[in-house]
Amino acid sequence: MAMTGVLRPGHAVIRVLDLEESVDFYTNVMGLKETGRDKNDRVYFKCNDEHDHNSFVIRKSDRAGLDHFGFKVLNKATLDTLEGRLREYGVATERVPAGEMLETGERVRFQIPTGHMIELYADKTGVGNGLGQINPEAWLENQKGINPIRMDHCLIYGGDIDGNRKLFEEVLDFSLVERVKLEDGETDLATWLTCSPKAHDIAMVRHPEDGKLHHVSFMLESWEQVLRAADIMSMHRVSIDMGPTRHGITRGTTIYFFDPSGNRMETFCGGYQWYPDLPPTTWTWDEVGRGIFYHDRKLNDAFLGVVT
Ligand SMILES: [Fe+2]
Repeated sequence: MAMTGVLRPGHAVIRVLDLEESVDFYTNVMGLKETGRDKNDRVYFKCNDEHDHNSFVIRKSDRAGLDHFGFKVLNKATLDTLEGRLREYGVATERVPAGEMLETGERVRFQIPTGHMIELYADKTGVGNGLGQINPEAWLENQKGINPIRMDHCLIYGGDIDGNRKLFEEVLDFSLVERVKLEDGETDLATWLTCSPKAHDIAMVRHPEDGKLHHVSFMLESWEQVLRAADIMSMHRVSIDMGPTRHGITRGTTIYFFDPSGNRMETFCGGYQWYPDLPPTTWTWDEVGRGIFYHDRKLNDAFLGVVT
């Protein structure tokens, strides 16, 4: 097997202000499938082509934002190894027992230098994508809403993104794919990291306040699906932040929009394939607008300022 270690983003757990309004939004507008609720009033969802029980979880709170972001690792031995490496590196880890999240095995939780809580886990119950594993059809009929394929990545905001990058690279074997430099040409404003052949699995932007969420992103199959997603957002009067457009960075096409609690979400498609022999791409400060929004070639105020 060529892929080992951390496999992919596995779950995002976010806070919402009104649980039922959010369930309606994520079910009927986003088109996620509700897969369960737990005694802590968390509601679990999966996307159309995901096989595991859940990838997106909402919890009622008096403030929006990200509780934690989880990555699935290859197996239990990998989980143990990575926990050992985290501790050796000086990161305190906590074991969250199996079942604390529905249908999810034991998790290793730790705080990264920007204050975000990250989790690793090896097991989540497979419920399938509804198509079966023997002679499947190509897609499910009669799906609701935007109907993304998978929860794909997140972008987080915080202070010590250099410390984050070092930890993700040196302990979890992530690689730097793209970066944006500040005016001094030295300091990173933002970095895009991957643990897979995707152009990014997590990204981070330097920001004065730690622990902030910029967006959780959901993958669609085509640019046409991105346009269709924008139509559905308009039909449901969803607050759109930007798009449909393209990022220069990763070359993905995108829409940024807000859920009813003000959490920014993204629906996107595309982006190139990454392999370990590809050197990182750098964007200079004078071209940051084109890097983030390739067509407008300038940042909107919300991109840098509005986080939860
Ligand atoms: Fe994104």
